[in-house]
Amino acid sequence: MNNDNSLTYSPPSTEAAAYLGTGPVPAGPYYREDYFELEREAVFKRSWLQIGHVCELPAPGSYIVRQLDVADASILVTRDQDGAIRAFHNACPHRGTQLVAEATEGRRASFTCPYHAWTFNSDGKLRSAPDFERFYVDKSHCNLAPVALEICAGLIFINLDKQPAQGLRESLGELAEQLETLPVARATTFTEYVYEIDANWKLTYDNFQENYHLRFIHPRSGGGGAVGPLNPFGYPERYGFHGEHRTQTIWSNPSPILSATQQLAFGRLVPKLMEKGLMNSPHGREYYALFPNFFLIGNPVQHFSHTVMPISARKSRGVFRIYWVGADSNASERFGREFSMANLRDVHSEDRAVIEAGQRGLNSGALEYIHFQEQEVLLRHLMYHVNEKVEAYRAELAGDRQ
Ligand code: FES
Ligand code: FE
Repeated sequence: MNNDNSLTYSPPSTEAAAYLGTGPVPAGPYYREDYFELEREAVFKRSWLQIGHVCELPAPGSYIVRQLDVADASILVTRDQDGAIRAFHNACPHRGTQLVAEATEGRRASFTCPYHAWTFNSDGKLRSAPDFERFYVDKSHCNLAPVALEICAGLIFINLDKQPAQGLRESLGELAEQLETLPVARATTFTEYVYEIDANWKLTYDNFQENYHLRFIHPRSGGGGAVGPLNPFGYPERYGFHGEHRTQTIWSNPSPILSATQQLAFGRLVPKLMEKGLMNSPHGREYYALFPNFFLIGNPVQHFSHTVMPISARKSRGVFRIYWVGADSNASERFGREFSMANLRDVHSEDRAVIEAGQRGLNSGALEYIHFQEQEVLLRHLMYHVNEKVEAYRAELAGDRQ
C-alpha cells in the first residue's frame, strides 16, 4: 500500500486472486476462430450484456435498437405506455423481417413490419395483422420474442439465454449496490464515441485492465494521471475480485502533468473536487469491470464506460461513453463535457495502434503462450473466467453427444 515516507509506491496484494495461478496463458483464445465460436455460445449468449442506459428511453414509446454481431442478433428495447422497459428480438414473428432499422432510436406508439404490415405495441404484443383470419395460428402466439432485460444503476443489460442461470443482481452481488451510488445511476445524458478495431475483444479490453503500458504508450497524456514519479508503473491502490467481475481503485498522481488545454478545462474542476474532498471519496477512482465486456471508471462527477463487443475472432467494436447528470448549465460546462471526450479520444488514439499490432503478432500463430505479470492480474482473471465457461460448455457438448 501507499507509504508516504517512501519514494516508491508498493503494489497492492493480489492474494485474493491466488486461485488464478501464475502460469503462462495459451495464446489461442486471443485469435483462434474455433475458440471464438465457443465464446459466442458459452459467454456471449449466456451472460448479461450492457447495451444501453435508461436515459436513452426518456418517455413512453421511446426505443433503441442494438446490433449484437456476436450473436447475429438485433435487439429492440422499448419503454411501454406504463413506463416499463423491455427487450425483444427485432424479428417479425410472421417471417422474420427486422421490424426496425438497425442503429436507430426514437419514439413510436407501435412498430409496423415493413413486409406485410403486422403491427406490434411497445409491450411486444401483436396489435393487428392484415387478413389474419387466414393464418393457422392464434394471435397470442405471434408476439415479439422477448429477451431477458435487467437494469442496474440506470445501465440496461440483456441476456440472450431464454432462462438465464442467474439474474443480473445475483451475478453482481455486492457490486450492484455500489454501482447504484455512482453518478451513472442518475445520468440524464452522455457523450459517445464508437470505433471498430482489428483486434480480439479480450485483447482490446485487456488494454484497459492494466496500467503497465501507461508510461510507455501515454507519456504525452501523462497516463491519465495514474502514473507519476512516486508510482512509475501505475500500481493501483487495491484490487477486488467478485466472482467473474473485478474492481480496482486507480491511484491518482497528486501532481498530474496537464497540457495547456487540460489545465484550462480541468484546472478549475480538479481543485473544486479536491476542495470538496471528492477526489478522496470512496468512489474517487473506482474501476468496475463487469463480466464479460463492460467497464466503468471515473470520479464522483463523471463516469466513463467502455463496452467491447466482438464482431469476429479478430475484430471488435468499442463504445465509449461519458455520462452526465443534468443539462449543461453554461457554455463552459458544454466545453468541459466535449473536452472530456476529446481527451479520452486522444488517449485512446495512443492505445489503438499498439492493440492492433498485438493482434497481428498473435495472428501469426507464432506464440503458444503469452505471459501476465502479477500486476496484470485483472487480465488473467478475465481469461480464467472466460475459459471456465468455455470448458463447461465443451463438457456440455460432449455430454450431449454421449
Ligand atoms: Fe413481418 Fe410479414 S414478415 S409482416
Ligand atoms: Fe492506454
